[in-house]
Amino acid sequence: MRGSTFIAGALAFLTTTIASPVQDRAYCIGQWEAQEIVNKIISIFGHQPGANATAEALLADDFTEHSDSIHALEGQPLTGASTTANKQEWIKGMLGEPPTLNITTLYVGATGCNKIIWYWQFNSVARATYRVRGFNLFTLNSQCQIQELDLEFNSIAWGLDDGELQCGNRSAKA
Ligand SMILES: *[C@@H]1O[C@H](CO)[C@@H](O)[C@H](O)[C@H]1NC(C)=O
Ligand SMILES: *[C@@H]1O[C@H](CO)[C@@H](O)[C@H](O)[C@H]1NC(C)=O
Ligand SMILES: *[C@@H]1O[C@H](CO)[C@@H](O)[C@H](O)[C@H]1NC(C)=O
Repeated sequence: MRGSTFIAGALAFLTTTIASPVQDRAYCIGQWEAQEIVNKIISIFGHQPGANATAEALLADDFTEHSDSIHALEGQPLTGASTTANKQEWIKGMLGEPPTLNITTLYVGATGCNKIIWYWQFNSVARATYRVRGFNLFTLNSQCQIQELDLEFNSIAWGLDDGELQCGNRSAKA
């Protein structure tokens, strides 16, 4: 009996500790942080002043990006392999392309303590014949840096906008 009283007491203590808001904030990211990180990503896409330094700080050194949409657009096999060799290659590629402006956030939310879901719409991809919608799932490390990015989007619309896909090919095959 004494044992179970002790365990009940210890459980009550643990529950109190875990439920404390300070502990929760120390471990789980909130809506505000999720929005901040999405704002930084948008500033990197737009090549805002300091975009390079922002990207350096935001991405973890072991950053990887995974996307069947990108691999399919590039005609690569869909193996789940990272679309970028490393963080530096990703930053160089991002800043080496023309800036992507006019991005609309349709939804952003913190989830599962260290993940962010971002539902987006790019209005100005190249010729912008079509808007492009997609989802990014960011996984953060303990320093709140992006360690993994999983994204899927309307790569047909993207490819028709920037010429990676040609309507002619589709008609020829029909
Ligand atoms: C970004 O900054 C790093 C380190 O400061 C530098 O080596 C790199 O050349 C910069 N990249 C671009 C695209 O400006
Ligand atoms: C941004 O995209 C929206 C939706 O396509 C469009 O109505 C608006 O004119 C665009 N704004 C700029 C500054 O290009
Ligand atoms: C699609 O058409 C373009 C332009 O005609 C051509 O360069 C490309 O190789 C074609 N792609 C495929 C997969 O047939």
